[in-house]
This record gives sequence, C-alpha cells and structure tokens, in this order.
Amino acid sequence: MSPPYGGVQARATWALAADDCKPVGRAHDELSLKERAHKVEESLTLYSGFYGEAECQQIEQFVDATAIGVAAGHFHAPGTVDPTPHRTKYFFGIGYTYGSGSGKEELIPEGTVDPIPTWLEQLVIAPLVQKGMVPRGWVDSAVMNDYRLGGSIVAHVDPPQLFARPIFAASFFCPAQLVFGASFDPERRKPPVYSQPMPRGSVLSMDGYAADCETHGMRPEDMFGTRRVSIVLRHVLQEAPRVGLKSHGERQDINEADRSALIRQVQGRWRDPSSRYFYEVRHLKVFVSEIQDGDQEPTRKATWRLAPREHGLVCNRGLLAPDGVSPGRLEWSPLRRTSSDVTWVWLSADVA
Ligand code: OGA
Ligand code: MN
Repeated sequence: MSPPYGGVQARATWALAADDCKPVGRAHDELSLKERAHKVEESLTLYSGFYGEAECQQIEQFVDATAIGVAAGHFHAPGTVDPTPHRTKYFFGIGYTYGSGSGKEELIPEGTVDPIPTWLEQLVIAPLVQKGMVPRGWVDSAVMNDYRLGGSIVAHVDPPQLFARPIFAASFFCPAQLVFGASFDPERRKPPVYSQPMPRGSVLSMDGYAADCETHGMRPEDMFGTRRVSIVLRHVLQEAPRVGLKSHGERQDINEADRSALIRQVQGRWRDPSSRYFYEVRHLKVFVSEIQDGDQEPTRKATWRLAPREHGLVCNRGLLAPDGVSPGRLEWSPLRRTSSDVTWVWLSADVA
C-alpha cells in the first residue's frame, strides 16, 4: 500500500474474530497463496526513509547506549531485558508474559516494567505523532529487539487480546525482511506467503489481515547484515487480560490495615545480601544506589515506586506480601511467572 499518513483513531481497536480471517463459506487454507499474499500486502504500509540518516545515527547511538547500560548492570528491573543468544528483547512501558501457551499472554501490572526511555519517546515515537499516524500517548508499549548474526523471531501473531492494531515496527542498522506465513522448520517447507522488506530507517505498519490472520517472523536468512534492531510500537488494549496474582498460587488479598502495616515495615534503608545495592524507602519511593568498584560511597542509580496492590506491595516487578516480612528481612517474589520462581531478599541496612 502507498503510505499516506493516516491516523489510527478511527479504529484504535481491531477486534479479532478468527472468522474475520476466512472468506465466507471457505476455510482459511482454501485461500490461494496468491490471495493470501494480496491480503497481506494490502494491510501493510511501509514508510521508507521515515527516519533520515541523522535520525538513524542518533537512534542507533541510543540503542547502543541502552545495550551497554544493561550489560554494565545499570538496569535494575531484571525482567525488562530478555536475553537469548542471538536476540535481546527489551520491554518498555507495559510488559506482558507469554503465559502458558499461545493465546494466554497477559499484561503484567503497570509500573513493573521500566518506562519508555525519553530518547525513544522523543526520537522514535514523536515523529509518528507529528505526522498524525498515532495520537499522542497512544503508544504505551515499546519493545526493542536487538538481533545479532543468526538472530530470528519465530512465526507468531502479536497477541490480539493485548495489542490494538495497527502495530508499528521501526528498523535500524542492517536491512531485513519480515516473512508472512512461512514455516521455521529446518527444511523451510513452507516458503513465505509474502516477504516485506524493512530497510534501515523505515516504519512498517501492520494492520488487519497481515496483523491478525497470518503469522510473521524473521528467519536468520531474512537479515542482511550482522546486526538489526527493530523497535515495535504498540497500544495496549484497555480490556487486555492482566496477570491475576490470585492464579499465582497462594497469594491472598490483604486488607487496608495489612497494606498500611507493610508500608510502615518497608520504610528505611535496605541492602541486597552482597551489600552492593542499597534501597532507601521513603513513603512510596525507593531510592536505589550502588557501591561501584573501588568506591566507598554509593552512587544513586534509580528511583522506583512502591505500588500498593491487592496482595501486597509491588516494586520493580517484585511483590512483597505480608508473609515476606520478617525482622530485618524482606523477601520479594517475582510478579511474572518465571521458570525458576526465584525470590530476592533485602536485608536491613539501618544503622542500629
Ligand atoms: C515482534 C516482531 C518484528 C521485527 O517483536 O513482535 O514481530 O521486525 N518483531 O523485529
Ligand atoms: Mn510481532
């Protein structure tokens, strides 16, 4: 499709009915490959050269700084970054879990994922707002994929219960193509129904049939260089399912008084067991600092928020329930289900 800068207000939500994917009276697989390719093409819009050379360079520098910052331990939310050998994913704004299978994806409570960084807001999202493609504030979830040589993203559909359509993907560093309807088996038995080039500095908008009815992905052979970064910009649906902490086993609702008691109990200075990180809790704010190698005094690293929730206090993707509190010790459990379900501990750092 040719790219007029159309807004998304008119159809901020695209209700997915599996039936919308099939022509009346025919099964999905009765559509010819040619018809499918046409329907994909029709619902994609590529804005090439959306970011100019200077903008690309600036954005790429911030991408590098983010990756280096993470590697150096500057990010404190363990769940913001999901590293795999050839691809690192960064979640900003509103995060989500993969649940226990496709279709089970759920949002994790607000405030448990790092906010969208200012550079990303100003350099990547603002141009979409300026051109009238999205309303201000519409993009509330940004995921950055940093692919290295051999990197890929397996065929998938962005969870329709979580994200409004269209979905925007901005591309940086080397060019690539997004393949629709392709299989990822070693023999590549199903070649792509449609391949969409994604040059550096472009924005791809995926809507309708392309977003809902065919899978998309990127095989290693679809990346034309050694490093590619995509930034996926989406709007989370108001009615999207949220992680129910209740389903997380023994978590219980607590009352007002328990919550107030918890807030009182966490006030003060805490440290991690290695005494590298310090957490100073004042009211509902947590000031995080780190003792860097060779330093005596801690350096201020971040400010987190404590959010009172139905099951306790939430801070930086962790939940503190009343049973996690013992004298001089706080035990946090992950909000997001993880394979290991590790907990982490803060010990009192108050000088007696
Ligand atoms: C995604 C996705 C495509 C890309 O993160 O959901 O489809 O170009 N990414 O990286
Ligand atoms: Mn996707």
